[in-house]
Amino acid sequence: MLKNEVIPVLNIFYEDSVNTRLISIISTLYKREEREYLQQLLIGAGERKIEIFIYEADIIHGYALKILCEYCICIKIKLYVQKKTLQSYFLRCGIPSLLINRRSIPEEMNIPVVQETDTNRAVDQIIDSEASEQEFTDELIGRFADVVYSKYGFDFREYQKNSLKRRLQIFVKKERIRGFSRMYEEIFENRENFEKLMIDFPIRTTEFFRDSDVFKVIRNKILPYLDSYPSIKIWCSGCSTGEEPYSLAILLGEAGMLDKTHIYATDLNPNVVEEARNGMFGIETIQKGAENYVNSGGENHFCDYFNFCGKCARIKHQYRNRILFFQHSLTNTGILNEFQLILCRNVLMYFNNSLQNKVLKLFNDSMDLSAFLLLGKSEGIQNNDGNDVFYAYDRENRIYRKKEILTGKENC
Ligand SMILES: C[S@@+](CC[C@H](N)C(=O)[O-])C[C@H]1O[C@@H](n2cnc3c(N)ncnc32)[C@H](O)[C@@H]1O
Repeated sequence: MLKNEVIPVLNIFYEDSVNTRLISIISTLYKREEREYLQQLLIGAGERKIEIFIYEADIIHGYALKILCEYCICIKIKLYVQKKTLQSYFLRCGIPSLLINRRSIPEEMNIPVVQETDTNRAVDQIIDSEASEQEFTDELIGRFADVVYSKYGFDFREYQKNSLKRRLQIFVKKERIRGFSRMYEEIFENRENFEKLMIDFPIRTTEFFRDSDVFKVIRNKILPYLDSYPSIKIWCSGCSTGEEPYSLAILLGEAGMLDKTHIYATDLNPNVVEEARNGMFGIETIQKGAENYVNSGGENHFCDYFNFCGKCARIKHQYRNRILFFQHSLTNTGILNEFQLILCRNVLMYFNNSLQNKVLKLFNDSMDLSAFLLLGKSEGIQNNDGNDVFYAYDRENRIYRKKEILTGKENC
């Protein structure tokens, strides 16, 4: 029989047998009481094995994740999740979990039926699907983007068709869907399938101090310039899982400028925004970050910026605290604020020229006069209208500054 003795309104239940404690969670654990209750249940399990089932959640609160990480290393815990989004997130944090083969929350919380899934398999090992090249025409992809927009509100209509095509092809292979039309049906019949697509449909690749040369310029030239401002606003657009804004926060901290800076970090994909807010990263991410940090001229121990637990690490509170993460799409053209520095790296490359121009105009309108714009290494302003409103400050590193439009002069 299911129990929830302490606070009945919490969505956490448990059931004990002689050898096992079964904990079922129907929550993202954003309530502090729930996290405390989970901790009590873990401690109270004594010598029993622990099995945890998490239903409905795409993500869980960073502190709950920390608790799980700590318990996963010292006690044998088996973790089952209902959502693939959460499974991928756990995997990136070094926590193995299995998918539950049940669509809804069981009425009787008996041990749910589980299916050992194969999400760890590499895409190229997957059986060949019958999705043929010819099916993914520009016209069909355009129609797909129209329907995604009208049904789910995500606007990919002005993205490069080739990039959308590649992402959809990877998705059908990974999910073993037979062809474009079948994928079309599955995605529009069932929101859960769309959520699966969104796990990494907008490419989310990122790193701490990615392109370390760029961070060297930020450290040695841009921050000393910005230090003359009494307060500083930075917008990191397309921030993915947060490594980029956290790298900035680390630099600002080292320069003694963090307290006077507000960093706004935004992304189209709500999943990555939640992950970024948690600030939890797997060990491999930290190792790569440490290498980049040193290459960018960092002189401290990169690990000192994190609290380690199990196979992951959480960025320290003082850095998480300074960043406001929220979901925002660059296809919405509303001006955000007057920023002194805008980073939008490795995002424009997925947009067609017309959308690139709109976004560059949006950045220009959202900037202070002498502000800096940083784009990705394979992006720029040569092939769009960016030259009208920006000039190159450091062409190689794709760093630009706002032009004074009225006089046509460049600011110094
Ligand atoms: C390749 S990642 C780049 C991350 C980071 N800027 C970097 O360079 O390491 C691209 C990010 O842009 C986001 N993105 C794509 N389209 C967007 C849009 N319309 N508005 C805001 N973010 C978007 C994606 O969700 C993804 O997280």
